[in-house]
Amino acid sequence: MSAEERDKLIKQNPAYGEIVCRCEEISKGEILDALNSPIPVYALDAIKRRVRPGMGRCQGGFCSPLVMKILAEHKGVKVEEITKANQQSKVLLGDTKGAQER
Ligand code: FES
Repeated sequence: MSAEERDKLIKQNPAYGEIVCRCEEISKGEILDALNSPIPVYALDAIKRRVRPGMGRCQGGFCSPLVMKILAEHKGVKVEEITKANQQSKVLLGDTKGAQER
């Protein structure tokens, strides 16, 4: 898209102006489009295959937590419930800080 086309789209829907994946230049709007498509999306890898966040140079080190957050918000679940590929492939297993205070 040209800069003018992008500006027009961002004015229509500001989510297209919120870049989630810096490496592949994927916006939140594109991820939401995939989530709202007729083919259901249940896991992080499903988004990765459809829209490409996580396929860039950092291999998802920057964008995966953001994609998980968007996915959790869209599905109305906790971010800990988001899986990588299937029901058993949890990404987050527990707290690393603060949970050990007794
Ligand atoms: S920010 Fe998404 S792959 Fe690097």
